[in-house]
Amino acid sequence: MPICYFNRMTEKDLGNVLEIDERSFKIPWTYSLFLNELNSEHAVNLTVHHYDAIADPVVSFMCFQLIIDEMHILRFAVDPDWRNRGVGMWVLERSLEKAKNKGAVVAFLEVRSSNDSALSLYRKFGFKKIGTRKGYYGKTGDDALVLKKLL
Ligand SMILES: CC(C)(COP(=O)(O)OP(=O)(O)OC[C@H]1O[C@@H](n2cnc3c(N)ncnc32)[C@H](O)[C@@H]1OP(=O)(O)O)[C@@H](O)C(=O)NCCC(=O)NCCS
Repeated sequence: MPICYFNRMTEKDLGNVLEIDERSFKIPWTYSLFLNELNSEHAVNLTVHHYDAIADPVVSFMCFQLIIDEMHILRFAVDPDWRNRGVGMWVLERSLEKAKNKGAVVAFLEVRSSNDSALSLYRKFGFKKIGTRKGYYGKTGDDALVLKKLL
């Protein structure tokens, strides 16, 4: 049995999603940023539920855009209380598969250069660095690495 399942993200999920986002990123997204994604025609926004005996909690979310044959991963996080159990791998693997099934041939994303856990995960999936955006994350001065993977 798979460890998780996806649901399409709706506005009523944004409470859970914002909480995970705030605990996961130095610069959290706002409610209205997520709302824009929910209203974007290119966006695929998913909540991830973990199977559980009582309630299936939202343990992760994934927001990506499909632009012609390109997948752009915009936002992806696992609840800190649910990390290091394979949820991140499950979400990324299924999301790449979903995008490929919808016609994507390549995936792109940006990641903070100091984000070792995400970089390790993406390298595992064969993402390669294709560029650096110097000082992209203004507050900390961290660079953004642009990664690409052929699907
Ligand atoms: C990156 C993230 C999604 C990983 O989620 P997760 O559920 O803990 O990941 P998994 O348990 O599936 O682990 C998969 C791989 O990720 C990497 N990883 C996860 N946690 C790590 C850590 N603390 N240090 C180094 N590598 C780590 C490893 O390569 C790991 O594989 P391994 O267990 O064989 O070593 C999670 O740490 C997270 O939400 N981080 C904050 C948000 C974020 O950085 N999102 C990505 C932005 S681009």
